[in-house]
Formats: sequence, C-alpha cells, structure tokens
Amino acid sequence: MKRIIQAVLAAAFIILAALAFFVGRPGRQPENRLDLTAGPPSPASFREEATLRNVTKKPITYKIVPGRPGAPPRTRTLGVGAVDRIATAVPVEITFDSGRRTTSYLVHPGRPYSFRYDEAGVVRVYPGAHGLEDAADLAPYVPTPPEVADRMIALAEVGPKDVVYDLGCGDGRLVIAAARTRGCRGVGIELDPALLEQCRASAEREGVEHLVRFLQLDATKAGLTEATVLLLYLLPESLETLIPAFERDLRPGARIVSHDYKIPGWDDRIVRTEVLPGGGGRDHRVILYRMPGKR
Ligand SMILES: C[S@@+](CC[C@H](N)C(=O)[O-])C[C@H]1O[C@@H](n2cnc3c(N)ncnc32)[C@H](O)[C@@H]1O
Repeated sequence: MKRIIQAVLAAAFIILAALAFFVGRPGRQPENRLDLTAGPPSPASFREEATLRNVTKKPITYKIVPGRPGAPPRTRTLGVGAVDRIATAVPVEITFDSGRRTTSYLVHPGRPYSFRYDEAGVVRVYPGAHGLEDAADLAPYVPTPPEVADRMIALAEVGPKDVVYDLGCGDGRLVIAAARTRGCRGVGIELDPALLEQCRASAEREGVEHLVRFLQLDATKAGLTEATVLLLYLLPESLETLIPAFERDLRPGARIVSHDYKIPGWDDRIVRTEVLPGGGGRDHRVILYRMPGKR
C-alpha cells in the first residue's frame, strides 16, 4: 500500500513539474488590446492622420480596422523604414501578430507611432517621440537620471576644451551638466519644440547659456565634425542608423558614451563599460567608445 501511495505521489509531482515548466515558457500568449493614448497630440502633427513607422529590420504586415462603422478592414505591409499615413479623423484599430500573440492597438489621429522592438526583441507598436512624421523617430523621451549623467561625463573625461554633443537631447540635461561641471561647450539636438524650450530655460537657470546651443533638427541630418564627445541615450537601431555619420564626421580620439545601449558592431571600440545601480529598480549601463586613430 505504501509503495502505491509513493508511486502516485511521484507521478503527481512529475505532472506538476512538467506543467510548471511549460506554463512558465514564453510561448504564444492570449490576444490583447491596447489603447495607445500617450499625451496630447503633437503640435507638429495636427493633420487628420495617424502615422506608423517601421523601425524594425523586417517588413511588417498588419490589419487596419477603420473607425467608421461598416468600413472594411484593410491589410498592409510596411517596408523597413517606411511610414504609413493612415488618413482618419477618429481612432483606428491596428491588429498585428508579433508571433508571440495578436495585439490590437488603438491609434489616434494627429499622433505618430512606430513598430519597434521591445527589450525582449518582440515587435510592438509604440507611441512616437516627437510627432514630426518626416524625421526618424530615434527614441521616446526618457531622461537620463542625474547620477548617470555625471558618470557619463566623468567616463568621457570631459574637459574645458571639449565640445559635447547630445543627439536627441531631451531637456538638455547632459550638455548642461557637462558645461556646468567642466566648463566645456555643448550642443543639444532635439526635435520636440517643448523640450527645446526646457533646454534653453535650464541653461539660463544654470548660468551656462553662453556655453551651450540647442538646435531643432533631425539628429540623423546633423553635422558632427565639431564634436569631441558624444553623450547618447538612443535605441540600438537608432545608434546603428547614426554609424555612417559617426564614421564620416568624428575625429580620431573622439569619445562616445552611450547610456544603456551598445552601438551595434562596435564592440572592438569599447574602452570601458560600467553598470550603475539605479533608482526605479533597474541598473543603468554606460559604455565608453573611442574613435580609432591618433588623437
Ligand atoms: C531617450 S531620450 C534622451 C534624452 C536625453 N539625451 C537624456 O539622456 O536625458 C531621446 C530623445 O531623442 C529625441 N529624438 C527622437 N528622434 C529624434 C530625431 N530624429 N532627432 C532629434 N531628436 C530626436 C526624443 O524627442 C527624445 O527627447
């Protein structure tokens, strides 16, 4: 009898363990639906269209369900880097199968969106960063915490003779901190006019307005020949897009410090990587690169 009970218990344990293993695996997940309302419509895109940009590395096929009752759904394929302009005065539903699950996103007219990879490499639809549909959407606005900014500046050994650029400078904190603590010049490039206003106001507040400039410009079109240091917080695919500009413009010995993301294919140029324990329950990585050649 004891043997039988032991055998039954052992079988139950094996079945439970197998179940836990399969349930825990990242298999296909149930369908879900997200309403991508992120902030007010951009002042730059007040037209009656939602834009959808493909910043992944493969064409993406999705279904558009128009907001008008009775209008038939359409299926579209968006090439790499292409932009779909969905003319609509009301929110429309985009249904997309990432391979993991089918998700419906409610996208709103007057706002930009992007198909991009999440941290796990799964394609999702994200609200765009700046609302200028004719410019590459390099990253949403997520500011670098001040202690990480300080470490980036220290790692690049910024001195008074340096010219520090931040491509996608947000509220300008990186170039302002560099100018304030090291006496260097700085240039911040940003598309969002509201953020640029914040940049100029903080520069004045910090007393460095004579050292820093802020330009409303698509960072992929910026000339970088003057820069001796780049401080960056952009997504990996955006860093990859910028590589030709780095190769074209940066002088030998120029330093690049990237927050969190590596420049794809540049591991042999890494000088140092540090992981900083951060607030918000996650660590921050800072990676220092140096352009090859004599200084
Ligand atoms: C992750 S935030 C980084 C902000 C700042 N560098 C920092 O570390 O605090 C990225 C910024 O890039 C801007 N951005 C996105 N695409 C851009 C483009 N094509 N040209 C210039 N700025 C862009 C966004 O508006 C956003 O403010």
